[in-house]
Amino acid sequence: MKKYLVIGNPIDHSLSPLLHNFWIKENNIKAIYKRKKIDKENLEDIILQIKKNQIQGVNVTVPHKKNIIPFIDQLSPEAEATQSVNTIYLNENKVIGHNTDIAGFELSLKKTKYYAYDKKIFILGAGGVVPSIIFSLKKMNASSIIISNRTKHKALELQKLFKNLEIIDWGKIPEFDIIINATSIGLRKNDRIDLDFSKVGSNKLFYDVIYNPGETNFLKEGKKLGNQVENGKLMFVYQAYEAFRLWHKVKPNITKETLELIEND
Ligand code: ATR
Repeated sequence: MKKYLVIGNPIDHSLSPLLHNFWIKENNIKAIYKRKKIDKENLEDIILQIKKNQIQGVNVTVPHKKNIIPFIDQLSPEAEATQSVNTIYLNENKVIGHNTDIAGFELSLKKTKYYAYDKKIFILGAGGVVPSIIFSLKKMNASSIIISNRTKHKALELQKLFKNLEIIDWGKIPEFDIIINATSIGLRKNDRIDLDFSKVGSNKLFYDVIYNPGETNFLKEGKKLGNQVENGKLMFVYQAYEAFRLWHKVKPNITKETLELIEND
C-alpha cells in the first residue's frame, strides 16, 4: 500500500485527503492519503521517510512550503523560482520538490476564460501563495503586476524574486483588469477588506484565492459592481490534479462530483 501525506500546521481543515482518496479509489490505485500535523523540527524526518520509500509522496501546506526546501535534494525550476514547494516525491533516489500551485492557478484562470495575457494585474497580499501566482502570471504574459500589502516590506521582498513588480501602498487602488485577493481576509464570513472598490467599474475579474467560504465579501462586492468573479476552488483542485498526475502518472477526472466533494459552505 502506497502512502501519501499532506503536512502543515494547522492541518485539520485540509481537504486534500478527501480529494486524493476519491481519485485513488476511482483509479483503483492501492494507496492511502492522510493529513499530518508537523512542526518545523520534524520536516527532515518526513524527507528521510520519503528517501527510504516509506512514504511515496507529500503535499506541503502553510507554513512549511519554504521551510522544507533545505532538506530537499532537487527543486523543479518552478519551486526554485518561487522558493515554494507543495509537492514532493522520490525520483531515482533523489527527493524532488515541485510547486503545483503555479499550474493550479494557471489552469483555474484558463477555466474562467478571463486570460491573463496582456492584462494589468493587481494583487492584494504578499503571503505564501503570492510567489506562485506571480510566476504563473508572468508565464501567461500579463502586461503588468502590481502588489499591495499591509506590511509593505513583505511586498518589497518579492522584488528580490521577481523583476518588474510594482509595489503600491496599502489603501490605494490602481487601474487593473484582474484583481486577486491573496490575503487571509475573508476566511471568516464577516471579514471585509478595508479598501474602497466603488470606483473600479465593471467587466473586470475579481479572483479570490479563498474557497471556503465560497463567496467572500470581496467577491460579493465585485459581483455587485458588474464584474466576473472566481473563488480559489479550482486552483485548489488543479494543484491537487497536478500532484496526482506527477505521483500516479494518471490524469484524474474533474467532474461536478469532484467539485461537490469540497463544497462545504
Ligand atoms: P504568511 O504571511 O504567513 O504567508 P498568509 O496567510 O499567506 O500568511 O498571508 C496573509 C496575508 O494576508 C498577508 O499578506 C497579510 O498581510 P501582512 O503581511 O501585512 O500581515 C494579509 N492580511 C491578513 N490580515 C490582514 C488585514 N486585516 N489587513 C490587511 N492585510 C491582511
